[in-house]
Amino acid sequence: MTLNGKLTGASMGIGEAIGNALAAAGANLILISRSEDKLKAISAKFTASYPAQRFSYQAVDIGNHDLVDKAISSAIEELGHIDILINNTVYHASKAFQEGFTNALRNELSGTNIKVLALRPGCVATNFHSQRVGHDQQLYESFFEGFE
Ligand SMILES: NC(=O)c1ccc[n+]([C@@H]2O[C@H](COP(=O)([O-])OP(=O)(O)OC[C@H]3O[C@@H](n4cnc5c(N)ncnc54)[C@H](OP(=O)(O)O)[C@@H]3O)[C@@H](O)[C@H]2O)c1
Repeated sequence: MTLNGKLTGASMGIGEAIGNALAAAGANLILISRSEDKLKAISAKFTASYPAQRFSYQAVDIGNHDLVDKAISSAIEELGHIDILINNTVYHASKAFQEGFTNALRNELSGTNIKVLALRPGCVATNFHSQRVGHDQQLYESFFEGFE
């Protein structure tokens, strides 16, 4: 959505799109980010589309390990064991960590039925890029032209 050349409103992020695909495949979901209002809205949208499934959310900064532990414990209590983890946040140096963490986890879990992989998407039109161009529609469009 645009207003006076500025991009407004939240576009669907990659995490929400993955969540939607998993919900369509029958999964119950626990959603985690820092913004309770966004989580509440997404959870309500999923519930409306998939009323037979359960959607729970926790507003947590993943930099706070204690809160992450509590959120995961309460998610397991509420929804049962976790089958799939989508590790989908922060930027720059954290990507190097994520790569190493994913490789280590893959090694540690080889020989089990748990699969670990890293997805490296190309340029996806989400709020992430809107933010980096100050929500300027023209800049946003010319940025994406370079990737087409
Ligand atoms: N878009 C692309 O072209 C592209 C390409 C390659 C890789 N990626 C990667 O894909 C992932 C998702 O990107 P996106 O484009 O979907 O971005 P996005 O729309 O900005 O979504 C990022 C999500 O992460 C949450 N988040 C950020 N910091 C957090 C923290 N400390 N604790 C908990 N939640 C946090 C944000 O919610 P809150 O702000 O509410 O916490 C937001 O919902 C990112 O890792 C990005 O680097 C994106």
